[in-house]
Amino acid sequence: MELRHLRYFVAVAEEKNFTRAAERLHIAQPPLSRQIQQLEEMLGVTLIEKGTRPVKLTEAGHFFLAHAKPLLDQVGELKSMTQRIGKLERTLSVGFVASTLYGLLPDIIRRYRDNNPEVEVTLHEMTTVEQIKALKEGRIDVGFGRLKSEDTSIRRILLREERMVVAAFPGHRLAGSENGVRLVELIHESILVYPKAPRPSFADQVLAAFNHANLTPESVVEVRELQIAMGLVAAGQGLAIVPESVQGMHHRNVVYRKLIDKHAVSPIFFSIRHMDRSPELENMLAAVYAIYDDLGIPHTKETL
Ligand code: BEZ
Repeated sequence: MELRHLRYFVAVAEEKNFTRAAERLHIAQPPLSRQIQQLEEMLGVTLIEKGTRPVKLTEAGHFFLAHAKPLLDQVGELKSMTQRIGKLERTLSVGFVASTLYGLLPDIIRRYRDNNPEVEVTLHEMTTVEQIKALKEGRIDVGFGRLKSEDTSIRRILLREERMVVAAFPGHRLAGSENGVRLVELIHESILVYPKAPRPSFADQVLAAFNHANLTPESVVEVRELQIAMGLVAAGQGLAIVPESVQGMHHRNVVYRKLIDKHAVSPIFFSIRHMDRSPELENMLAAVYAIYDDLGIPHTKETL
């Protein structure tokens, strides 16, 4: 059995359709059907029920799919790890969610650069969901994101839980609440959430915070990204709930107020490929903890 058999079968099973799978694999449909047939002959079992549309897997097909996917992920990981180890110059590609750029990310990156001047660091803004894909494809080496992905080929280290705050136009009735605001005071407001896609995203964390308090905001407006949400807040179009790092984004028409609800927090994760134990990553984690120590931010210390 060749790796291509696994790849072809996973595409058919995921697309539930031979034509779409062939398009995704950039091959014609007849050779794809032949390869699947060959795979079934090699295994001596039927993986796909005959004549079903959309494609339906047999019990053996479901079993094969569940094991083929992690195997393909591991192969992808093996490829990017080997390329990384074989490279002469040392590089570190970092994916980050936009909010971290207004908080501690610049300090962490500067600290890392100061201590590791031989490493070429590149930064890429992307959502947490995009980071997981980019890690698996070897386009980044570490992701700083906010969502807990269940992907087994990715290792996540929880760095800390960051409090959420409310961003409002200075003329808004809640802008005067210097001691903080409670979620219940926001339910009749227009709540701007981001990013609209891909989901799940920080938008779902904000909605989950309301849900956790048994609250449903009357109006939720989904916008493409953080910067758009903040621009609309400044224009008086609504309120946004953002991680407190975003307070580093100074805007003369936006004020930030604490959210009093204890559960209104957003985690920050350090995500890497499961097998990756490179010194670049160890040093990056050390730079994060060094900045936390300097600023007195409580945290536990994990090792790779
Ligand atoms: C933080 O705010 O804790 C953080 C930001 C960027 C990278 C790592 C941690």
